[in-house]
Amino acid sequence: MTDAEMIGYLWTHRTQDHPLYSDEELMIERGEGVHIWTRRGKKLIDGFSGLMVVQVGHGRQEIADAIGAQAAKLAYYPTTRQFSNPPAAELAAKLAQLTPGDLDYTLYAVSGAEANERSIQIARHYWLAAGRPRKYKIIALQGGYHGGTIATFGVGGSADQIKAYEPYRWSGFTRAQQPYPFRDRGKGTDEDLVRRCSDALIAAIREADPETVAAVILEPVQGASGFVVPPHGWLTRVRDICDDLDVLMIADEVITGFGRTGKWFGVQHEGVVPDLMSVAKGITSGYLPLSASIARAKIADAFDRESTEENVHPGTYAGHPTCCAAALANLAIIERERLWENAERMGARLHAALEKSVGGLPIVGEIRSRGLLIAVEMVDAQRRNQALDKKLIAKLSTRAWERGAVAPAAGSVLRAAPPLSISAGEVDELADIMAGAIRDVQDDISRATRTAATA
Ligand SMILES: Cc1ncc(COP(=O)(O)O)c(C=O)c1O
Repeated sequence: MTDAEMIGYLWTHRTQDHPLYSDEELMIERGEGVHIWTRRGKKLIDGFSGLMVVQVGHGRQEIADAIGAQAAKLAYYPTTRQFSNPPAAELAAKLAQLTPGDLDYTLYAVSGAEANERSIQIARHYWLAAGRPRKYKIIALQGGYHGGTIATFGVGGSADQIKAYEPYRWSGFTRAQQPYPFRDRGKGTDEDLVRRCSDALIAAIREADPETVAAVILEPVQGASGFVVPPHGWLTRVRDICDDLDVLMIADEVITGFGRTGKWFGVQHEGVVPDLMSVAKGITSGYLPLSASIARAKIADAFDRESTEENVHPGTYAGHPTCCAAALANLAIIERERLWENAERMGARLHAALEKSVGGLPIVGEIRSRGLLIAVEMVDAQRRNQALDKKLIAKLSTRAWERGAVAPAAGSVLRAAPPLSISAGEVDELADIMAGAIRDVQDDISRATRTAATA
């Protein structure tokens, strides 16, 4: 069977990031460091770490060895109330040490969406245990993405993504405004924007009735909506609002966790400790799937330790020993190579290089970053408060691919989130490729404008 025939059996996602390429050209066969190779032998810089997952880079032998050794020793055993296993317990202790404050209790899951569902379920059980059964609603922020299950689509998810599931939508999920400085700052300051969004969040909780609201869920930096970096002070305000109105704060650190933003976790940029933290992706750098909801002591303490009554029902693969062994090996690399510090340095380098080479172009609205989450906001050259045409935005990814990098454009932004292990030389190469792609599109527009003027 040919590759094309075999690919035909995959339920492919069919997003249009690479509309000009055939499925066979997009078959990825191998990875090493920040590079990947297609089955046809094209070498590319993985400017997106797969899906913002591969913190330590591809092809790390020590993670492969840890997986092999654990699979040979005990590949699988469940973790229910009766059972645990050494890697699951060791990793839970490690997460308690790495996460801020008293985020000390880990419930494992498999995907990011499931971690968020677990966080929501724990929040709900917490309020039941606290004798306040009316508290169940979850407030998220506009543009937030928390996973592709039906419940997490209820929490986040764009209109397009959720329209098929409208008949199933659960009650109790509402959204408040996310501070998006580039779009919403207007002539005011970042502080004004934080104030406006804080007022909107308070109003949303009050409108829902705080006695019925279980939690607010948010990403420290919004990923799917275009690496929207909120102004400093926002997370602190959300924490204060949650405390004032007696609502839990859930931080979705699925993208921002494990060094991506220049600190171990995104909330640490403001010294905020959420009540629950959802993590996935970077916990294993994607070598195996694993996620978790991590709870503060106050949450865990609400449950009677002697009780035999089940609260959140664990899944078959919760605390999978082989996945936990992969996570331990991965975290050891992040720690040893201090990759969160490299993310901070290399993110600043990539940001500065892009600013210098394309920051002044008419189609570039803003370049923003936190650590190694870098976005170039693309605008219409004539009407700079409008996004660049969708087709031109898609072209950015194609041009980057032709020039040798994966740098996906979506919505109104071109994004980069390379492995945290990236070197200065590789950053410069990625910056050249991204800048080249942006200049190509700018040149196409300028050429088309000139032709129209002379016609
Ligand atoms: C912030 C955030 N939360 C949750 C998820 C869902 O993770 P998964 O695809 O592993 O379910 C994602 C996926 O990209 C995400 O970006």
